[in-house]
Amino acid sequence: MKDEARERARKRLILALDVPDLAAGADLLDRVEGQVGMVKVGLEIFTACGPAAVEAVKSRGYGVFLDLKLHDIPATVAGAVRSARGLGVSMLTVHTGGGEAMLAEAVAAADGALVILGVTLLTSLSSADLPPVGIIGEPAEIVRLRASLAARMGCSGLVCSPQEVRGVRAAVGPKVTLVTPGIRPAGAETGDQKRAATPGAAIADGADYLVVGRPIRDAASPAAAARGIVEEIMRAMPVP
Ligand code: C5P
Repeated sequence: MKDEARERARKRLILALDVPDLAAGADLLDRVEGQVGMVKVGLEIFTACGPAAVEAVKSRGYGVFLDLKLHDIPATVAGAVRSARGLGVSMLTVHTGGGEAMLAEAVAAADGALVILGVTLLTSLSSADLPPVGIIGEPAEIVRLRASLAARMGCSGLVCSPQEVRGVRAAVGPKVTLVTPGIRPAGAETGDQKRAATPGAAIADGADYLVVGRPIRDAASPAAAARGIVEEIMRAMPVP
């Protein structure tokens, strides 16, 4: 019973493979010893290695979350989504700041073959960072507005900070997949994450998946760090 719960918790932990090349990626995946449920291929390794990074992760049996935060005119984003479909990734991020038409075309191009996740607002931004880029309002309010827009445009998932997950869940309902980066186990360095929370708090507030990078990558034992997070997820999960 406990093993089953641990397995369900492990599936909810996504490792951010934020490394510069395939060798470093293989090393981190070796060191994590299968203790995570999915792997996020992001801008650093994808810019360096392209589809080979996706293949390397898939060949180890992990689903791939391709985090490119696409933000361009609708036709260009739709083309990129079709390319990502061809790579066989499970989830792909687009930026909700791209607007209604871009989101709708991304969803249409995915054609149900992959989850389109709308990124609401980067978890590295705080209230003070918004006015200089012309965004007026509090992060929580902007996130809720953009989350509702993305859900209306057909995005089946959203990325938001753990501090906003409760409000987003209330705005979009139970069916939309919520993915939260900005996760820091108690006492860990926050680095550039300004709207962070612990794994347990994010799950208790309604997150479906947690994305964790540096707290696992930079740990003396990435496997032990991942196991600790899975334990915390398990304790916070509602009893089925
Ligand atoms: O190292 P850390 O745990 O902070 O990594 C978080 C990961 O989540 C990074 O790969 C980052 O690109 C990603 N991310 C984020 N905020 C978003 C979307 C994605 O931090 N809004």
